[in-house]
Amino acid sequence: MFMCKILQQIETPIVEFTELFSRAIGNDTDIVNKEMYTFEDGKQREFVSLRPEGTAAVVRAAVRNYSTDLPQRFYYHGPMFRRERPQKGRYRQFTQFGVECLGDSHPYADVETIALAHTILSSLHVRHETDLRLNSLCDDETRSDHRRLLIDFLHSNHDQLSELSQTRLKTGNVLRILDSKDLGDQSCVQHAPSLLSVATPASKDRFAQVCEGLDALGITYCVDHQLVRGLDYYTSSVWEFTTTRLGAQAAVLAGGRYDNLASTLGSKHRVESIGWAAGVDRLALLMKACNANPPRPPPVLWVVHALEHGAAATDTDIQKECLRLCHRLRSHGITVEYRHAEGSLRKQLRTAQRNGACAVAVVGERELLGKSVVIKNMLTGFQESIPNTDEIVLPYVQTLFADSSSDGEVLV
Ligand code: HAM
Repeated sequence: MFMCKILQQIETPIVEFTELFSRAIGNDTDIVNKEMYTFEDGKQREFVSLRPEGTAAVVRAAVRNYSTDLPQRFYYHGPMFRRERPQKGRYRQFTQFGVECLGDSHPYADVETIALAHTILSSLHVRHETDLRLNSLCDDETRSDHRRLLIDFLHSNHDQLSELSQTRLKTGNVLRILDSKDLGDQSCVQHAPSLLSVATPASKDRFAQVCEGLDALGITYCVDHQLVRGLDYYTSSVWEFTTTRLGAQAAVLAGGRYDNLASTLGSKHRVESIGWAAGVDRLALLMKACNANPPRPPPVLWVVHALEHGAAATDTDIQKECLRLCHRLRSHGITVEYRHAEGSLRKQLRTAQRNGACAVAVVGERELLGKSVVIKNMLTGFQESIPNTDEIVLPYVQTLFADSSSDGEVLV
């Protein structure tokens, strides 16, 4: 689905030391407090956890291995684990696809990162079913000024808060009260001072640049002052793509900027970074709910043999030539299918068509002897015989594939 040209794939372990997550995500968050699967590890008596998300480990790995070569963009996908009460769209094991851009502090990096998420949702035909909610957690100075004002506000409205929010106020975890699910809390915090209303000029200006960049790309969003996200590493821009089609599990893709995370994890340098992760299970449910067509698979060329039982070439000679052709094309990155055991040409062509072949390469006795191959474009039906050399066959097939460009493919 994704042809990643400028993103590098990164894989991190599924089991990590618990400390990585508690330092990165924060000890007072629901994820670390209640949702991690944590075990004491044998003789060393160290605690390890199943990863609840991907960002912390990507930053840890990148700081160790790429710190002299930034900015870098990474993508990953794989299972994450959170102790949840399972329900539709909320699982204890779920899959995330994530993107992390490390070492780029420009507001337009925020715009491009959000735009990439927007493009991917569009290519899955679900973007129109989502809303982009955007906020800024501003800079350190704003957050500490805001915190004082928010604590005053919450104390003076203490009795209107839910029990959980009262506890959070007592323990100092006040920002999370802003995105409480409790209806009473929600109506109370509507009147709370927003971060942006007390932001420093630099923070306000940065957020304006992000908004202007999104406007320039025609990406619509609504600023949601209550959006704070449940992970402590965020700074500045945060956002969520939410849907009304999946009941309570509204967020299908979410992310934000985390300029301090690398330093929290021990980097000597500040590595300003930004990223997001999509819930693959929720995206699949959303695609089903709105009957979205799955993206078209990448084009495939089928090699077929025409066994004519002639005198000059045996079936084995022809099939060996087919094998050679497959091997040559595959080693140049072309996806090729060849059903060795199938007999009749007509049957092979029917199978190729049924499986969505973009083109078919036919090798029979005439082609073997004449060092040629017949290529048939399965979309137009046009076919021609061309010399069977890499110089001719490769660009011919590549052009054919480019012409049948698939709309589900995202080049990033
Ligand atoms: P998150 O909001 O915790 O962010 O998760 C991202 C997405 O994963 C959610 O929007 C949702 O679609 C999906 N998700 C989360 N929990 C579950 C669950 N229990 N079952 C099914 N799907 C779920 C993060 O994880 C951050 N690491 C995102 C990020 C990357 N921020 C910066 N870079």
